[in-house]
Amino acid sequence: MTDDGAVPDQGPWPWSAGFRTLAAEHDYRVEEIDGKVPPGLRGTLYRNGSGRNDRGGQWFAHWFDGDGMISAVRFDDRGVHFCNRFIATQSFRDEEQAGEIVHRGFGKMRPAGILGGVVANAFRQPANVANTSIISEGGRLLALWEGGPPTALDPGTLDTRGIENFGGAMKAFSAHPKVDPDSGELFNFGIDYGAKTTLTPYRIVKGVVTRFQPVALPYPLMNHDFVLTKNHLVFCLGPILMRSLKFVLGFASFDGALHWEGAKPTLILLVPRDGRGKPRLIETDAFFQFHFANGYEEGGALVLDLARYPDFHTIGEALRSYWRSEWPVKGMAFMTRLTVDLATGKTSSRTFDSGSANEFPTINFDYTGKRHRYAYFASNPIARERGLQQQITRIDFDSGAVATHDFGADACVGEPTFVATGGAAEDDGVIVTQVFRTAERRTDIVGLDARDLAARPLFTARLKHHVPIQLHGCFVPERK
Ligand SMILES: [Fe+2]
Repeated sequence: MTDDGAVPDQGPWPWSAGFRTLAAEHDYRVEEIDGKVPPGLRGTLYRNGSGRNDRGGQWFAHWFDGDGMISAVRFDDRGVHFCNRFIATQSFRDEEQAGEIVHRGFGKMRPAGILGGVVANAFRQPANVANTSIISEGGRLLALWEGGPPTALDPGTLDTRGIENFGGAMKAFSAHPKVDPDSGELFNFGIDYGAKTTLTPYRIVKGVVTRFQPVALPYPLMNHDFVLTKNHLVFCLGPILMRSLKFVLGFASFDGALHWEGAKPTLILLVPRDGRGKPRLIETDAFFQFHFANGYEEGGALVLDLARYPDFHTIGEALRSYWRSEWPVKGMAFMTRLTVDLATGKTSSRTFDSGSANEFPTINFDYTGKRHRYAYFASNPIARERGLQQQITRIDFDSGAVATHDFGADACVGEPTFVATGGAAEDDGVIVTQVFRTAERRTDIVGLDARDLAARPLFTARLKHHVPIQLHGCFVPERK
């Protein structure tokens, strides 16, 4: 064990180092900047992810077990400022004090006591580690973890204010809420695994939650994201089933209780967004997705753009073995446009020549639920066989054109965030992302011109250290 309690630094792959814990909390101006931050980029990029992936000299069992840590990169007239803070969840505080694993997680189990591992874990819920995403809502930040309510943070200091359960209305709140760009309504959902598994959509307006009627699912399953369109909330429920009893009784972690049943269909669930009318289920061939870029309705059809996996096998195993995984490219996702005829329920799909291992798709959020022309995401060169993504790619859905910025084989890119910089066009903006450099073991904050992705970066701000590979983030513009 090292001085700060981290596991030995000996992962088998160059990208393994990107998963190392960052125990220190930094707060400094970035001095090394190549290029120039455009004057239209003013505000803070907040990102969330597992900042601590080990405890007591032991790696956590799953990447999603790590303690939530926020990185905040502020772009102002003086340059670029970085800080990172751990979220002071109950789990983080307990385990900091104990110096060892105390809580069950997504994949981790409590250590076996004298009565054994099953007794140590039975009837205990995974701890809310607030590690998946972050949004700005009502002048505060909310760190998200889909199995429980959000954790509120101070946007200036990143101090943890505590759990926000919206007056008790919120039990589970997915990590991918959607905001209608015109009305400002925020939509989200939670899944409750009880005697009957239910999916409950919510609408939040000015902090007030309206719960939709819970939708009973035919079997317990995992779902991570959804699409908001003009008339619907749309879910693609792949057959990634959860053996609830095995999990509840302590025989397996939540992750260990998941299993892929590819003979079952993927269920496309349409919930009317006004909360009235019956939900509709459409069956299609089995596939799995974590993330959608966007979706919209046009000409009697539903158009969904998503990072589609053939199944859960490859991605499930890679996430489970994260720091020691070769991150195989075969079996990962391709950006896919899925079209659903709303009259007949027939589906069709097309993929794009957009490299491989397509993930973390995003758009200009002004187009949420509307016809969008562009999506941006992480990818790998098609010939690459293993490794975390090294490219940021853009698809122009109107022309089919694909543009890519390749950071090279020693780079691991994070989720791209589109930041509008004041122009009228959909792609007038900057793509900001984190790039972990495996050779230097440091992280760069990089800005790309969204209109000309392949061009030399607009700026590269070099941090003094690494930021453990993060998941999702948001950009909060500077108040004028
Ligand atoms: Fe996600």
